Amino acid sequence: MTAMSRWFHRYYDRLMEPLERRRFLTIRTSLLSCAKGEVLEIGSGTGINFPLYRDVHVTAVEPSALMREQSTARVRQASVPITVIPGTAERLPFEPDVFDTVVGTLVLCTVPDAVQAVREMKRVCRPGGTLLLFEHVRLDHPVWGRLQDALTPAWKRLCDGCHLNRDTMRLLRSEGLDIVKTQSCMGHIFIAVEAVKRAD
Ligand SMILES: C[S@@+](CC[C@H](N)C(=O)[O-])C[C@H]1O[C@@H](n2cnc3c(N)ncnc32)[C@H](O)[C@@H]1O
Repeated sequence: MTAMSRWFHRYYDRLMEPLERRRFLTIRTSLLSCAKGEVLEIGSGTGINFPLYRDVHVTAVEPSALMREQSTARVRQASVPITVIPGTAERLPFEPDVFDTVVGTLVLCTVPDAVQAVREMKRVCRPGGTLLLFEHVRLDHPVWGRLQDALTPAWKRLCDGCHLNRDTMRLLRSEGLDIVKTQSCMGHIFIAVEAVKRAD
């Protein structure tokens, strides 16, 4: 882990706090109210979602030891059982079709291989189960989209590998997921998505 990553992980909650309070809490609460049964959360970070789960059982996978350590307070605050384990989204240590819901928030922007991460999320989700995602994405706009492309190399270095220009909706569709609900905010930069793994 680089010094920049360590800094980013240590101060992540403080950096995000204004956005979380003013914008994201409502989106996260609404999205996670759709979680059911056995839930897997990838890249759970400092556990910001943990207090929002209701009537489910959560397994969370997070590669950063520093993030996992910071999430322990939120595991205790949660009203549901939560187990956090080390691991990456690209190689989930689970059998196929075992989770009712698979959650990722602000993660597909950061994982090194987003295609493989979505394939793994789909693999471990049961047929008819749901993927719940909240992500920032590349804008479908000739100027702003290109600006996101241009800024991404510097942004990645500053923000622990985060890409400003991931086309997450296209990725979900290309992996054969059915998009059943989307909500966008902040000029379509952020999207909340409910996608279903077909039961065929
Ligand atoms: C921007 S933070 C988001 C944290 C949290 N999910 C949230 O909503 O605030 C990105 C998270 O993805 C994690 N991450 C990075 N690479 C990953 C990978 N390959 N698989 C799973 N998580 C990863 C990081 O350690 C970090 O916790």
